[in-house]
Amino acid sequence: MEKKVILSGIQATGNLTLGNYLGALNNWVKMQDEYDCYYMIADLHTLTVRNDPEELRKNTLNLIALYVAAGLDPDKNTIFIQSHIPAHTQLSWILNCYTYMGELNRMTQFKDKAAKHADNINSGLFTYPVLMASDILLYNADLVPVGEDQKQHLEITRDIAERFNSIYGDTFKIPEVYIGEVGARIMGLQNPTAKMSKSAKDPMDKILLTDSSEDIRKKLKRAVTDSENCVRFDKENKPGVSNLMGIYGIIKNKTMDKIEEEFKGKGYGEFKNAVAEAIIERLEPLQNRYNELIENPDKLKAIYEKGDKKAEEKANNILKNVYRKVGLIVD
Ligand code: TYM
Repeated sequence: MEKKVILSGIQATGNLTLGNYLGALNNWVKMQDEYDCYYMIADLHTLTVRNDPEELRKNTLNLIALYVAAGLDPDKNTIFIQSHIPAHTQLSWILNCYTYMGELNRMTQFKDKAAKHADNINSGLFTYPVLMASDILLYNADLVPVGEDQKQHLEITRDIAERFNSIYGDTFKIPEVYIGEVGARIMGLQNPTAKMSKSAKDPMDKILLTDSSEDIRKKLKRAVTDSENCVRFDKENKPGVSNLMGIYGIIKNKTMDKIEEEFKGKGYGEFKNAVAEAIIERLEPLQNRYNELIENPDKLKAIYEKGDKKAEEKANNILKNVYRKVGLIVD
């Protein structure tokens, strides 16, 4: 039986967080044997805000290193760069013509980003979800593993695909969102009612995948909790402690009950130490592999060239079919 197809991606920015890792990468690694996986570096999406061009090139390569360092085997997964496959932008134009302004206006990420970048509300920021829909639909993806913040973008992808199919007949596979049971929404350490975000201004709010052990310990020590001094899972009343329990639970593969038991009668100091050490234990080998890989740009290039080739073939077939359906001349 043919394997089901997965597609996902991360924006090529330099400061990936523990949220990106636990919400996305960590789940991808678990899926690589069972599915035919396409993992792209979303470099085009990063252009919706201003970047330093040299930084963007560096971040793109670094993200490939990070994918591999996190455990994605380049022989099992198709790892590629979004901008290297012109079909993404080509399909995006077409799908723009099947997407309504009103739909895009409802996207919470657009509203958030427009508020954050009030001086640069460009139309790329507005049509961002259409490019994302193109990324997904070009590969006939069955499943799209993402964190919860991307759920709305998956819903609009499905709506666009269904609309197109209802006009032209079966063309696109309707993808399902896959949100991992754990790690779907890692919250900030200083503000545990908002997601941990790479763009957070306060460095104490986020753990970066490149943070030193010392920094991780410091950030955990300062993480916001509550005055109860009891390790108990209660998202609503104890968002800080519950978030730390969630992080600890994923890394240690423990249920919330088990964690409560483990820390019964123990204070937050001890608990925070344990969470910090668990994060360090998980990130250290990843960081070591990452540091080795970024010293070897030829190896990284070989990885994406191989991925690009496979991705392009698949994407072009689907794009051609769409061109034909809408009435463009295809030879
Ligand atoms: P991006 O780059 O913002 O985030 C990458 C992945 O990390 C997840 N994530 C989190 N998960 C849990 N807790 C958090 N605090 C947290 N922060 C981020 C995101 O949900 C995402 O899965 N538009 C996408 C990139 C993209 C894409 C695609 C994804 C472009 N095309 C096609 C899937 C399919 C984005 O900006 O993700």
